[in-house]
Amino acid sequence: MTETKSNAMWGGRFAAGPDAIMEAINASIDFDQRLARQDIEGSRAHAAMLAQQGILSNKDAEAIREGLLTVLSEIEAGDFAFSSALEDIHMNVEARLKELIGEPAGRLHTGRSRNDQVATDFKLWVRDQLDAAEAGLVALIKALLAQAEAGTDWVMPGFTHLQTAQPVTWGHHMMAYVEMFGRDLSRVRDARTRMNECPLGAAALAGTSFPIDRDMTANELGFDRPAANSLDAVSDRDFALEFLSTASICAMHLSRFAEELVIWSSAQFRFVTLSDRFSTGSSIMPQKKNPDAAELIRAKIGRIVGANVALLTVMKGLPLAYSKDMQEDKEQVFDAADTLILALAAMEGMVRDMTANRDALAAAAGAGFSTATDLADWLVRTLNLPFRDAHHVTGSLVAMAEDKGIDLPDLSLKEMQSVHASISDDVFSVLGVENSVGSRVSYGGTAPVQVRAQIARWKQEFGL
Ligand code: ARG
Repeated sequence: MTETKSNAMWGGRFAAGPDAIMEAINASIDFDQRLARQDIEGSRAHAAMLAQQGILSNKDAEAIREGLLTVLSEIEAGDFAFSSALEDIHMNVEARLKELIGEPAGRLHTGRSRNDQVATDFKLWVRDQLDAAEAGLVALIKALLAQAEAGTDWVMPGFTHLQTAQPVTWGHHMMAYVEMFGRDLSRVRDARTRMNECPLGAAALAGTSFPIDRDMTANELGFDRPAANSLDAVSDRDFALEFLSTASICAMHLSRFAEELVIWSSAQFRFVTLSDRFSTGSSIMPQKKNPDAAELIRAKIGRIVGANVALLTVMKGLPLAYSKDMQEDKEQVFDAADTLILALAAMEGMVRDMTANRDALAAAAGAGFSTATDLADWLVRTLNLPFRDAHHVTGSLVAMAEDKGIDLPDLSLKEMQSVHASISDDVFSVLGVENSVGSRVSYGGTAPVQVRAQIARWKQEFGL
């Protein structure tokens, strides 16, 4: 036997150990050690099931389960010597278990394979990330709700093409993000429900001849049921892809909001003041307060979408069932998950801490002829003009005001009547910004009465 030179796990078939380069490309222990807790959880459930089914003696199963706890505490204490000769987390744990408890360790792998083992470990890990993302999203939504409540009826400009369009309320703008992150939340929950089937017991690819109880291990590990097809169970990485695509959409929302915060916190806008806790200074320009957190959140999407594309590319074209390509699934997902959770937390902190500048918002709300649509609507409603004609009349009035360097409500009635003789004094009732937002009472509109209804709906959803 040359077991010492070749691999302890499959040395029987091999005369020589791997080349150093082979070991370097093959080993995943540098990164998959992050799956240690899930690996040990899965193995403990598997051992308990083997004992219940009479495949393993209770004594051996107990030794295994206890020994695995020791291994876990060694790893968590940072006392574990990971070895790349042992390739991955599964074999590192098992080899250490053997050192600790001897012969019974070799019985743990009965009726399973690293293929179902890694699929199970990774699923458990991704499931934890979905739970963390859910918590991060709920916290962010609550912070947005608080902002929306504080300034439900504060007026601000609404933009299209980043040009002043129509006045809206601060509450309405905050609630737009509540809707976006609310959809992310529902995607996260949806992905978790769909992914919650246990691969363990699929073994290498075909199932096993041992009388295992897959319901028991599934149940023990918090899955809803065992995965129904062993080939699919070991080759499926949809759960990781769904996490990444959900994370990509969420990161896109974060990036858009971050961009608004960058713009809003600039000296030119001054719509919001970010707290010192979420800003940085400049080493050369003493006056500066930079929105670095917002800028970084704006950029983080690159890594997350990159991970999504990378894993889709790894998985495409793979024949059933397991291929070693799939070891390339982890680093991308690890990084994307860390990035998303951090970005959500940073955004929540920024939103919680930021101050909306009511006066600056109001001053900007009236600028840029933002009530021109209200004027056109008034012409339709009161003078019964066709909308296209009303649009034209309003356009002439805007041009006149622009010429004079004043705003629409500052035109005199006389000046207005020079464009359309039937315009009456009543027109001024719609030209104020407050009137404008107050009139947009259609469902989902910006009127404070509508915004309040949406805030109430969301608060109820979160039991607030
Ligand atoms: N380290 C491997 C991975 O992450 C574990 C599964 C290995 N299975 C195998 N048949 N070589 O994919």
